[in-house]
Amino acid sequence: MDQDRLLRELSEFLRIPSVSTLPVHNTDCRAAAEWVAADLRRLGAREVEFLGSETHPVVWGKGPEVPGAPTLVIYGHYDVQPPDPLAEWTTPPFAPTVRDGRIYARGSADDKGQVFCLLKAIAASSPPPVNFRFLIEGEEEYGSKVLFDLLKREPQRVRADAVLVADMSYVAAGWPAVYTTLRGLCYAEITVRTSKTDLHSGEYGGAAPNAHEELCRLLTRLKGEDGRITIPGFYAAVKRPSRAELAAWKKLPFNEKDFLNKRVQGKGLVGLKQHSVLERLWALPTFEIHGILGGFTGQGAKTVIPAEATAKVSMRLVPNQKLKTVERQLAAAVKRLAPKHVTASVRFLHGADPAQITLEHPSFKLLDQAFRKVTGRGTVPARAGGSIPVVPALASAGAPVILTGIGLPDDRLHAPNEKLELKQLWDGIEVFRTFYELLGPVPRRPRLPRNLRDARAAPLQTRLQLHPYRPRSDEILVLTPWIRLVGSDETTV
Ligand code: BES
Ligand code: MN
Ligand code: MN
Repeated sequence: MDQDRLLRELSEFLRIPSVSTLPVHNTDCRAAAEWVAADLRRLGAREVEFLGSETHPVVWGKGPEVPGAPTLVIYGHYDVQPPDPLAEWTTPPFAPTVRDGRIYARGSADDKGQVFCLLKAIAASSPPPVNFRFLIEGEEEYGSKVLFDLLKREPQRVRADAVLVADMSYVAAGWPAVYTTLRGLCYAEITVRTSKTDLHSGEYGGAAPNAHEELCRLLTRLKGEDGRITIPGFYAAVKRPSRAELAAWKKLPFNEKDFLNKRVQGKGLVGLKQHSVLERLWALPTFEIHGILGGFTGQGAKTVIPAEATAKVSMRLVPNQKLKTVERQLAAAVKRLAPKHVTASVRFLHGADPAQITLEHPSFKLLDQAFRKVTGRGTVPARAGGSIPVVPALASAGAPVILTGIGLPDDRLHAPNEKLELKQLWDGIEVFRTFYELLGPVPRRPRLPRNLRDARAAPLQTRLQLHPYRPRSDEILVLTPWIRLVGSDETTV
């Protein structure tokens, strides 16, 4: 591998400030899409197209046709989160810098560095025996509307033997993972208004209501000090992990004290103390306040009673919660909790249902083998605290969605000094190269196995035919045989 050239190319990609949520970066998002398209063309991809948007297009492409080989959809995103607070970066977020064997830049781990691995792994083999399809989007960090619309119109784009998503991390250094759930998300703005305009706090203070005070009270009524979310009905659909799964998590290299001291770097953890930290991060829903707007926040002092205040909040959802239900529950709770002298409203910005993946498909074994071969350890099943809204839609044509990643848990996604370890980058390219090779072997004379014993020894192409996709109901149509919302059996949170 020509590491210097690869680092130069990755740096070019990372230098583009493709922040999808801020309109001032629209042309940068487009530039990042152009970078992806150019790279796809360098790989020999055909039909490279921009779909769905001028500024945040989905970059689509098809690899060279390999008759009889399996079809693999590569998903990733070229957009990034805003880099603020800028003062906390050691080197600027869009000036990628290598220090101590790491590359520092916004997007290095989430997700440009990982998209880079997926693509360069193709270039690293004399063309792998796989029919590649590429769906690299530019709106993942803002809810994936363009890709959702595209897949609704053209679901055949994800008709494949498997979909590969590398947008997560190992569970710990040396421990690659494959993910069985992603949390969903419900992002909202809660606004309270208490008077027509702001008021002098001397003339009116003591008798006029204060929007910030009302908003704070409302927010603390939605979640208690013990971490329990008090929105009525919120936990009703939450399905607790099985005993076997909880026991498996205890064996993972995760230490609650290290998590506090090395990762959070705070003074203590919060949340539902009767559940382990991993369960709180992976299998329980959350309610977080991201920011509060309104009133006076400039320099110096101004004595004013704010008329309006808005909180940006979000809830992470877990199986079997549904976005639509949670939206209704939040709106009803806010309405019920707001006192008569307050006008409260809720605006939903974006959201996603949680996703659940079963690891039955043969391609999960091949990924495990690829990691084992390159890193010395196979994949452990884990859950993800984060969300990738479009995953259920990626699964909608029946292909298993493989959720994995080559980052590390301390990569500081969305935070200052985001980084990717170069060892993870080089290993990552090798892992995906190996995975493509393993996925590819085309049987010389493909034929259906006569019985299941033969099937186990049969090449992937033949084995895949054992698992034809048969939708069983409308609901399962969306979730596929490999991604299923399992029925709730206990709800004790
Ligand atoms: N790559 C992350 C998702 C992720 C992070 C999964 C960590 C597992 C572990 C993704 O880019 C992301 O940040 N998603 C957003 C989605 C939202 C903005 C709709 C998220 O989870 O906040
Ligand atoms: Mn990501
Ligand atoms: Mn992200």
